[in-house]
Amino acid sequence: MTALVDTFGRIHNNLRISVTDRCNLRCTYCMPENVTFLDKSALLSFEEMTHFVTVAATLGVNKIRLTGGEPLLRRNLSELVRLIAAVPGITDIGLTTNGLLLANQAEALFDAGLRRLNVSLDTLDAGRFFELSRRDGLPQVLAGLEAAKRAGFGPIKVNAVAIRGFIEHDAVPLAQFCRENGFELRFIEYMPIGADVWERVKVVFAHELLEWLEVGVAPLAPAANYDPRSPAMDFEYADGGRVGIIASVSRPFCRSCNRIRLTAEGKLRNCLFALDEVDVKPLLRMNPTDDAAIRAMLLANVQAKWEGHEINSAKFVKPLRTMHAIGG
Ligand code: 5AD
Ligand code: SF4
Repeated sequence: MTALVDTFGRIHNNLRISVTDRCNLRCTYCMPENVTFLDKSALLSFEEMTHFVTVAATLGVNKIRLTGGEPLLRRNLSELVRLIAAVPGITDIGLTTNGLLLANQAEALFDAGLRRLNVSLDTLDAGRFFELSRRDGLPQVLAGLEAAKRAGFGPIKVNAVAIRGFIEHDAVPLAQFCRENGFELRFIEYMPIGADVWERVKVVFAHELLEWLEVGVAPLAPAANYDPRSPAMDFEYADGGRVGIIASVSRPFCRSCNRIRLTAEGKLRNCLFALDEVDVKPLLRMNPTDDAAIRAMLLANVQAKWEGHEINSAKFVKPLRTMHAIGG
C-alpha cells in the first residue's frame, strides 16, 4: 500500500473531517459574532465524505475524527458515523462537539459505532460561559456529558481552551468536576487561529496550569504511559484520574503530526495552519468519481506539507480561515 508519507517521514493515518462550519455558539477565540456560514449546497454530502474516507483508507488512513463548527448540527450525524464505521480499514472514529445537542444524540452515536468523544467546555460558570461563547448553554452541555456517560462512552474527554483572564478561575473547578465525574480533562493552549486578536500573553503555559492543579486539586506526576509523540502531555493524580495538556504553542507536536483535514466544503488541508488547500469536491461530485485523481491529490497534498506551524517564529502567518471554518 502506498502510504501518505511526507518529506519529513511523517506517516498520515489520521483524517479530521469538518461536517459543517455552522455552530450554535460563537466562541470569541474561534469566530466573529457576525459570521457568514457556507450555503448548505456547498457542504459535502455524507456519501461524498464516506467516499473520500474510502479512498483515504486505501492510503493508510485508519483514524477519523468528525469536527465542525458544531458537528451535531448536521442532521442524522449518527448515519455518517455508521457509514464511516463500515469502511474497510477504518478502526477508530471520534467526535469533537460543544455538547449542546449531545443529550439527545449520545445513544444513537454510540450505537452507530462512535467510541471517542471530546466535549469542549471551558468553564462551569454560566456567566463566563456566555462571555466566552456569546450564547447560553452550560446546562445543556452538562446534560450532554451525563447522557454520554449513560450511553456507554468512556473515557469521555473534556477540552478547555486555556486563555489568560479566564482559565485562572476555571482550571481548578473544571479539574475537580472532571475527576468527580470520571471525565478526562485536557487543557488546550490558546492558538492564533480564531477571530480575536491573539496575544501571546494570553497563552497560559503548561507549567502554570500544573502548578494550579497541584495546589488546588492534588499532586500530579507524568502518566505511566506518557507518550512524547502524542499531542497531549498526560499527567496522573497521585490518588487516581488523569489530566492532559495540549501545548500546541509552547511545545509544538508538529514533528509527530499524523493529521490531514477535510473542510466542510471539501477542501483538503495538510495542517491546521496551512495557507493553501486543494479542492476535492469536484472530484467527489464527478459521476463516476475519479478515485485515482483523489488518491493523487491526497499524495501531493501530503508531499507538500511543511515542517510545522512556526507559531513561535517571525515567519508565522495566521491563516485567513478561522477555526470553525477549518475544523478544530
Ligand atoms: N485555540 C485553541 N483551541 C481552540 N479551539 C477553537 N479555537 C481555538 C483556539 N484559538 C478548540 C475548541 C474545541 C476544538 C474544536 O478547538 O475549544 O475544543
Ligand atoms: Fe462553535 Fe467550537 Fe467554534 Fe466554539 S470553538 S464557536 S463551539 S466551533
